[in-house]
Amino acid sequence: MNDNEICAFLKEEETARLDVLWSHADAVRKKEVGNDVHLRGLLEISSYCVRQCKYCGLRAPNREAVRYRMTQDEILQAVGEIVDAGYGTVVLQAGEDPALTKEWVAGLVKRIKADTGLAVTLSLGEMEDDKLKLWRDAGADRYLLRFETSDTDLYRRIHPPKQGKTLSERVAILKKLYELGYETGSGVMVGIPGQTYASLARDIALFRELGLHMIGVGPFLPHPATPLGKDAVSAGKEQVPATDVMVYKVLALTRLLCPRTNIPATTALSTVNRTDGRKLGLLRGANVIMPNFTPLKYRKAYDIYPDKACSSETGIQSDRNVRELIVTLGRTVGRGRGDSPAFMQTSDERS
Ligand code: 5AD
Repeated sequence: MNDNEICAFLKEEETARLDVLWSHADAVRKKEVGNDVHLRGLLEISSYCVRQCKYCGLRAPNREAVRYRMTQDEILQAVGEIVDAGYGTVVLQAGEDPALTKEWVAGLVKRIKADTGLAVTLSLGEMEDDKLKLWRDAGADRYLLRFETSDTDLYRRIHPPKQGKTLSERVAILKKLYELGYETGSGVMVGIPGQTYASLARDIALFRELGLHMIGVGPFLPHPATPLGKDAVSAGKEQVPATDVMVYKVLALTRLLCPRTNIPATTALSTVNRTDGRKLGLLRGANVIMPNFTPLKYRKAYDIYPDKACSSETGIQSDRNVRELIVTLGRTVGRGRGDSPAFMQTSDERS
């Protein structure tokens, strides 16, 4: 599929043709990654952030945001719950928080790796090569960094550079992660104000070109305390809508272009369609769910977008609902680490 064909699918509105897309994506999912749905325990370990991304509620200039940072002991305790729930992976996510120093994170990763058999996924923002290397050496297995959009003008408009620095190059960081041997994940938001169909088609083509192992996508959700949540400029008739259906299209096309990657049905998707987002995501390409195990007292403060789904549910409650859904869909809960077959292929080619 070239960019034009991807673009045509993104614009498709005929039910019959969309049904073909959904069933094709589901068949490829089944053939390439099977019926297992892998569960990841998500911990949002810090809501501090020095960046000013124009869409995100955690942006530094947002004075209303409540800031917290979990201690290592709190994190280890929550990791224990994730182990008890039978999971194979913990995802540590945070804003770009300078207090999460190179040594602090390395020490945390080592403790988790020493105490548990979990795969550790980091999602801590744009970090320098030396940190990424140290954390990998400490035992971190995976890293998630969405490039958000492949349209450089749009990227620049919504990502002010760090003070005194030039524009960040997330694609360069992704290549570094790959080189360091991380299982590497990225993704985009769907429906960013100013995002065109053509640029979203390019994003999906880029997923394939980068050879990503994990791809997460969700709808853009306007946060009132951010510039993009207040006065956003649309791309007119080429503007991608931030709807659940548009996200399903991206999930399905991503599955077709990157058949062996791990693709989550994200919390943002469950937030735009609370009743069916997660289910339809799993039926249209996704094979991963990331239940949130952040202690409830911190949940509200990790406010990247408003009215997040499952924001008052414990990890264990969420786990119960997810397992029920998986069984209802005739799927199975994945055991073990649930590495992406795309990653195992990369590793084989290297050795
Ligand atoms: N709406 C939707 N997704 C958002 N993210 C950040 N802010 C928003 C928002 N307002 C997503 C970004 C980021 C991920 C952690 O959360 O894609 O990479």
